[in-house]
Amino acid sequence: MLFFSLATCWLTLSLASSLPDSESKRDTNAVPRAAYFLDNDPSGASIVSLDILTNGTLSNPVRTLTGGKGSWAKWIIPSPAPPDNTGFAGPDSLFSANSIVVSGNFLFAVNAGSNTLSLFKIDPSNTQHLTLVGKPVGTLGDFPISVTYSEKLHIACVLNGGTRAGVACFSVDASRGLVVLDGSLRSITPALNQTTPPGGPILTASDIMFNPSSTGLFVSTKGAPPSSAGASPTLGFIYAWPVVGKTVSTTATISQPSGVILDFSLTFLGADDSILLTDAAGVGYILSVSSGL
Ligand SMILES: *[C@@H]1O[C@H](CO)[C@@H](O)[C@H](O)[C@H]1NC(C)=O
Ligand SMILES: *[C@@H]1O[C@H](CO)[C@@H](O)[C@H](O)[C@H]1NC(C)=O
Repeated sequence: MLFFSLATCWLTLSLASSLPDSESKRDTNAVPRAAYFLDNDPSGASIVSLDILTNGTLSNPVRTLTGGKGSWAKWIIPSPAPPDNTGFAGPDSLFSANSIVVSGNFLFAVNAGSNTLSLFKIDPSNTQHLTLVGKPVGTLGDFPISVTYSEKLHIACVLNGGTRAGVACFSVDASRGLVVLDGSLRSITPALNQTTPPGGPILTASDIMFNPSSTGLFVSTKGAPPSSAGASPTLGFIYAWPVVGKTVSTTATISQPSGVILDFSLTFLGADDSILLTDAAGVGYILSVSSGL
C-alpha cells in the first residue's frame, strides 16, 4: 500500500497488490493490481477502483457504492484563499489522511455524511471487484474522516472530526463484518471544538494510525497559526491510547510537540519510536515516541 499526499489538495489514494508475497515474487506482471479512491459523494458515496497496467497506466474505472454518504468540510479561513467560491473545502473535502485504507484483502472507507464505516472484501483474483461485508456501521460520533486497521488485533478504529469528535473501535471479521467494541466515543473535544460538517482547515482532525506493534493508537489534530502578529499559535495535538491486552484503552496520553501547528499525516518509520508527521503548512517533522507513548 502506498500513499501519495499532493501538496495542494492532500488527495489520498490507496494501492493494493493483494496476493500473498510468495505469489507476487513468482510473477510480478501477473499480479492484478488496483488503485482505489473514495468519491465522497454526499448523495451516495462510492469507491472507484482502477486497474494498474504493467506500464503504470490507470484504466477501466469501476464504481462500487459504500452504502453511506459523503460530506464536505467548509473552508473558513481567508488565507490561503478557498479553492473555489462554494464555501466548501474543494478536492480536499475531509481535511484528512487515510479516509480509505487497504490491508490484505480488506478495504475500509469512511462515510462522513452518514457517520458510518464501510468494510469491503477485495477479490484476490480481480482486485477491482469489491464486496461490501454486512452493512456500514455507526462510528459513535460525527463526520468520520480517517480509519486505521491492525492485522494483529483484527481491530479497526475510526476518527470522527465533527461535533462529536473522537475515536471508536470495531472488531473485523470477513463474515461477521464490523462489530463496535465501545460503549461510547473516546472524546477529543478538549483539542477540537468543531461543527458538523467541520470548518477548517485549521483546528480540524487529521489522521489515525496504529503503531507497528499495535501497542498504541495515535491521532493527530491541527492547531492554528497565530491570529495576529505577536500572538501565540495554537499547537496541534497528538493523542495516543495504549493497547492493553487486546483492547484499546480509553485514557490517552496527550502531546503537543513544540512548534508543530498543523499536524497532518502520521507515518511510523518502521518502528514504534519514530513518526514522520507532515504539517499542512508544507513542512515535516520526525517525532520520537517514548515507551509511555
Ligand atoms: C500503457 O499500456 C496501455 C495498454 O497497452 C497503452 O494503451 C498505453 O498507451 C501505455 N501507456 C504508455 C505511457 O506507454
Ligand atoms: C466551542 O465553539 C462554540 C461555537 O462554535 C462556542 O460557543 C464555545 O464557547 C466553544 N467552546 C470552547 C470550549 O471553546
